[in-house]
Amino acid sequence: MTDRLGSFCNAAQQLAALPRAVRPPPIAGHDSADLAPARWRSGRGHRSRPAGLALAALALIPMMAVAEPPSAAAGAEDPAAIAQAEYDAVMTLEPDVDNGRRVYLTCAVCHLPEAWGSIDGTYPQIAGQLRTVIIKQLADFRAGNRDNPLMYPFSVPTILGGKQELADVAAYVAQLPMTPHNGLGPGTDLALGEQLYEEHCLDCHGVDGEGDVREHIPALAGQHYAYLMRQFDQIRDGARRNADSKMSQEIQNFTPAEQSAVLDYSARLRPPADKLAPDGWTNPDFPSFVRDAAGIRARPPMPQVP
Ligand code: HEC
Ligand code: HEC
Repeated sequence: MTDRLGSFCNAAQQLAALPRAVRPPPIAGHDSADLAPARWRSGRGHRSRPAGLALAALALIPMMAVAEPPSAAAGAEDPAAIAQAEYDAVMTLEPDVDNGRRVYLTCAVCHLPEAWGSIDGTYPQIAGQLRTVIIKQLADFRAGNRDNPLMYPFSVPTILGGKQELADVAAYVAQLPMTPHNGLGPGTDLALGEQLYEEHCLDCHGVDGEGDVREHIPALAGQHYAYLMRQFDQIRDGARRNADSKMSQEIQNFTPAEQSAVLDYSARLRPPADKLAPDGWTNPDFPSFVRDAAGIRARPPMPQVP
């Protein structure tokens, strides 16, 4: 809880910065000027802090504590069916990327303004992930079709918003440039990794790990190795409910060495150059984001993965 409180103090600061963060410039289609690091630095300073917004953030704390995902055992409708219905509905909407940026402010507390997550795999890189994958995963989290105690409370309609906001934030995240320095594995078994990838993964995840937007299959290229390892474990062991059943079967007999090799290879697959951020890039859309409040690096809470 202490960690969560710390995170929410940070969240309150981020929310307080909202009126500045949502100002122009528009973000659609990142031109080179938008990528200049000087842009966000010039906007530093935290003069405007409407108490209302900070209080709104604090009001999230009890909600975090009590929010429980809907239980399939409650005899309710199948979570997968609920998520699928929401996915279908969201896909008919026209996304508003600029509003997505506003919605993304709460997400930035954990996924950081760049949406690059953490190399240790606690938080996935979501920048540049396929839009349909982001929509599917958010719909799954909030329907209780994928479990994560940290993501769940932030996926619910009272925090994230309705279908339109889901469409908007997914479009915003999908167009963010990816980190050129994602977490990698040991690099010792890449020939084996390549061979396994071609035999067992390529058909679905694509020759360059680019995923499949129509089938909402995640891109693996450029994702943190440690995150891939954790998801692979959960998918193989049946802990990730939205797992693809064909994939689960495909990976049942992987040894730990084979798993590491194929995921190291996957993490090293390079996204197209135009999807990668230049070295040292910071997201100019969040000029007031407090990265180092009071000299202590703001750290989001650690997930308790079963
Ligand atoms: C409290 C921290 C936290 C916040 C806030 C948060 N997330 Fe997450 N998110 C996580 C964690 C942790 C995971 C990894 C879950 C797992 O390991 O299964 C995750 C996973 C995801 C994934 C799945 C990625 C993948 O490839 O599997 C998406 C998409 C996502 N988050 C989007 C969002 C969006 C959009 C928001 C804001 C509405 C948000 N998150 C807010 C912690 C957070
Ligand atoms: C039959 C198609 C199929 C095959 C084969 C397959 N996958 Fe997947 N994989 C999927 C789908 C679909 C998902 C997303 C499921 C969902 O909706 O959550 C996924 C998800 C994943 C994830 C989680 C990614 C994330 O961002 O959350 C990882 C890691 C992964 N696959 C790795 C692999 C590897 C490595 C192989 C080969 C050894 C492989 N997959 C083979 C279809 C497949």
